[in-house]
Amino acid sequence: MSNFTYAFLRLIPALFFFLPIVIFHPSYAATTNPTQLVLLVCRRTSDYAFCVESLYSDLHTSNAADAYQLAYVPFRLAYLNATATQHHIATLLKHSSSPGQSQRLRQCSRDYEKATSALERAFNDLDSETFFELADFAGVAAHSAADCQAASRGTYTSLAVMNENLKGLSEICNVVAKLFSAS
Ligand SMILES: *[C@@H]1O[C@H](CO)[C@@H](O)[C@H](O)[C@H]1NC(C)=O
Repeated sequence: MSNFTYAFLRLIPALFFFLPIVIFHPSYAATTNPTQLVLLVCRRTSDYAFCVESLYSDLHTSNAADAYQLAYVPFRLAYLNATATQHHIATLLKHSSSPGQSQRLRQCSRDYEKATSALERAFNDLDSETFFELADFAGVAAHSAADCQAASRGTYTSLAVMNENLKGLSEICNVVAKLFSAS
């Protein structure tokens, strides 16, 4: 037997060992078999796959017993996303090469300022169980992302992706919030 064949044969038991770990890993199992609550929420969004994938990137999702508990997940994700984007914009601004570009980026920076502060307030509302403004805060975040996208005029691919993410996450926030705040 060549060394290569031998090495390959030795890998087979390893495969049998790792394959079940991959298949039965909680996040994999969850995204292919989401809870009723996640189904209910994600079916009301415009991008089901994005919604399920985003929610299950957080370990709390599989144990969320009701919409209120689940709501923390997309709001947290949206907040983290918005603050990360804010930092990204600051970096782009530092390396900006033209006044026009800087101006567009400053607009985005203001937009994301609005988004993060709205999402922060949403968190406080969740904690104090005052729900009536939650959907509005999600709306502000979505609007800010759209505003920045319009302002940056597609100059930055990275920023476009981030704007899309925030829009998508805000939509999930909006759907979840409506489940328990409208009543
Ligand atoms: C932002 O959201 C997207 C989509 O859920 C996710 O893939 C990405 O990791 C998030 N980024 C941060 C910094 O949270």
